[in-house]
This record gives sequence, structure tokens and C-alpha cells, in this order.
Amino acid sequence: MSEIIISPSILSADFMNLEQEINDVKEAGADWIHIDVMDGHFVPNITIGVPVVKSIRKKTDMFLDTHLMIENPEKYIESFAKSGSDLITFHLEACRDEKHAKEVIQLIKSSGKKCGISIKPATEAIRTFRYLDDVDLVLIMTVEPGFGGQEFMHECAMKIPQIVEKAKKELIIQVDGGINNITAKICTSLGANSLVAGSYVYGSDDYRKRIDELKNRTWK
Ligand code: DX5
Ligand code: ZN
Repeated sequence: MSEIIISPSILSADFMNLEQEINDVKEAGADWIHIDVMDGHFVPNITIGVPVVKSIRKKTDMFLDTHLMIENPEKYIESFAKSGSDLITFHLEACRDEKHAKEVIQLIKSSGKKCGISIKPATEAIRTFRYLDDVDLVLIMTVEPGFGGQEFMHECAMKIPQIVEKAKKELIIQVDGGINNITAKICTSLGANSLVAGSYVYGSDDYRKRIDELKNRTWK
């Protein structure tokens, strides 16, 4: 069975010590760094943007997993690609139609970056199916996007096997929101192979212990 990609969300990190916070989760076994970009329109919160990603890129060689929760994603793909993101994930709900979504996918791919699509809790898994051959990752939101520290929405997890069934072999299926030692097991046993965790990792004193718990597939 393949490894599970753990992507701690820096939304719950101490922004005054971001370099240290990133190095600490790297040492603790994190695979990627998850960067939540929010514009105050697509979601009711504003977080960080291109200049911060650029600064992070200068200080770490970690894989930067950038989750865009923004309207008009097409306008910002080039900037995020240039800023050093390795993977750019956007929301299908931010697109008018299939043509729009395919254009965004194309923009990301032609920038040389890995491409992800994401769906909010109210969006059905079927909405992703037509894009599965074109993307590297599908991100299933397991909370309403906008804030860290919310409770996992169990009904969203059932989208995992629906997408697994339709997916090409190498597709990464990521979940984000309310992930802890218990919900991680639910998601990985249903076929998710990448877990985003903000408060569960950064809310602890022992990042290694938390990351180990997330990586461990067995119930304990
Ligand atoms: C929510 C973000 C998440 C968030 C997860 O909109 O996309 O990445 O940081 O936080 P936790 O793990 O605390 O639910
Ligand atoms: Zn996220």
C-alpha cells in the first residue's frame, strides 16, 4: 500500500515564526506544506497570498501544496506558479462551467505545476469525474472552507470511494478539514491518500506524534 501524504496546513501555525514552524513539521515527518489562500469572496475569510508563498519558497525546499479558495482563479495561476507553488488546487465552484474549469486546469499544467481540483461539502463527487484524467489531485473538503478548527463532516467522506472508483491509478485523493487521528483512519480506509491537517498538527506540542498518528493506517 502506498504512503499517505501528510500536508500540514500553516493556517494554524504561528505566523510570526513561520520558517521555524515549517522546518519543525518537516523534521516531524510532514511530506508537503498546505497553504490556504482565501480572498474574502469565495470564502468569508482572508488569509495569505502570493508574497507570502514567495517568502516561504525562499526558505524551504518542501513541496508547496497551494489551496486556492478564491474567485476568478484564472487570474492568479501565473502569479502562484511563479511564486513557487508546486501544486495548485482550485475550486470547481469558482468556475462558471466546464469550459472555464478546463481552462484553469490548462493554465496550471502549462505553468509546469501539478494541478488539483477541489469540491465543497455541498458539491457532489460526480462534478469531478469529467476532469479526473486531466488532474493530479482531487481535494474533497470535509468542512465548509474558510476556517481551521472545524468539525469533520462525515457525510463528505462518502465521496472518497465514489472518486476512487472512477480515478486513474496515480490520482491523489486528498481530504481537508477536521482531520485528526480518528477521521484520518476513516478517510484512508475509504481510499484517501493525502491528508491535510491544520489544528491537529499545529495545535499540539508534539508535531511528530501527531504526524505519526496520521500516517498510521491502523486503528489505535
Ligand atoms: C479550511 C482550510 C483547511 C484548514 C484545515 O478552509 O482549507 O486547510 O486549515 O484546518 P483543520 O485541520 O484545523 O480543520
Ligand atoms: Zn486547505
